[in-house]
Amino acid sequence: MVCVAIAYGVFSLSTADSAEPNYDESRVPAYTLPDLLVTQDARPVKSATMWRATRRPELLDLFATQVYGRRMTKPAAARYEVTETSALEGTARRKQVNVDFVAGDKTIPGLTITMYVPAGRRAVPAFVGLHLFDTSAKEPKPAMPIEAILQRGYAIATLNASDFCPDDKDRFREGVLAHDYPGRNGPPGPEEPGAIATWAWGLSRAMDYFETDADIDANRVAVIGHSRMGKTALWAGAEDERFAIVISNESGCGGAALSRRQFGETVRAINDRFPHWFCGNFRQYNDKEDTLPVDQHMLIALIAPRPVYVASAEEDRWADPRGEFLAAFHASPVYHLLGTDGLPADEMPPIDNPVHGTIAYHIRAGEHDLARYDWEQYLHFADRQWKQEK
Ligand code: GCU
Repeated sequence: MVCVAIAYGVFSLSTADSAEPNYDESRVPAYTLPDLLVTQDARPVKSATMWRATRRPELLDLFATQVYGRRMTKPAAARYEVTETSALEGTARRKQVNVDFVAGDKTIPGLTITMYVPAGRRAVPAFVGLHLFDTSAKEPKPAMPIEAILQRGYAIATLNASDFCPDDKDRFREGVLAHDYPGRNGPPGPEEPGAIATWAWGLSRAMDYFETDADIDANRVAVIGHSRMGKTALWAGAEDERFAIVISNESGCGGAALSRRQFGETVRAINDRFPHWFCGNFRQYNDKEDTLPVDQHMLIALIAPRPVYVASAEEDRWADPRGEFLAAFHASPVYHLLGTDGLPADEMPPIDNPVHGTIAYHIRAGEHDLARYDWEQYLHFADRQWKQEK
């Protein structure tokens, strides 16, 4: 016993990989989720008005101060430089938009949006995310069903994290953060935005651009992300209500998965390996998930009543598929309060059997990936949501 305890202690001090991940359902600790519909000062939230006026802002603030960091403000002005070429044998237009920010008499280099728009179409709905396709390649790779997306009448747009907030613990401030946090180094301060908050901010800047581009219907933009960018999509959709649909593909810890389950990746594991992703305060919850004032079902509820899709993969145990399902499930009471149907399932559905309500969920066979199967479900979901609204 003593040996085990000592070995464990040394191991956790040596940071990086801390303890072995738990993949055993019977070892998930007993936990109580913080109540979505009770305010911090213990008042029950009984109406949509009270959700919007009190509980939603309170939860947004908790996620900003305890998990992701407070996002940077919107720059006073942006300058867009658009280059357009014909692509995919004339079926699409490829647009590259260089976005610079204007602050006083200074121009701050910002980010680049690369998009494909179906040829001959205007005001189309769009999917946007980070790293959806390789922007340096002449044409996107076949794993990305770009033709199918365009044929269904959608545009697709991507951002590269490396343009404005490199995914690197030593360099993440070298992009847009250098302007707001000059001369800082080390991991983010208590409420300072980490990379996820900064990437989410970038998605909002892409949305600002869509509002100026007649090719895109800015009222029908779905934000989508895989894995770390799935976490980003959820936080972007929670903070910025202009995103009409939010899609989280295998976002796991700090994304759709409930932290309190400590299944697969834990708060400590993610903070140790990726100290630049979250705000400094999030580290207080290493090995103390049950003291978090929020859990990730609340992040999904912040998107309500807008449609949200949470997806898992069977072999992606690190992301805790069951924890992702449960977060979607436990977000439902807010969807119900706001007059929608939430997730129409009490149990996790079988493999490759999506359930689609205003909250949708599937668990696909196979490993951690944004696969063609996933895209097919998302296209179907978006078709359904947006046709219904016509
Ligand atoms: C790591 C990390 C996950 C993340 C994933 C990814 O596995 O631990 O939290 O989702 O990378 O982004 O691919």
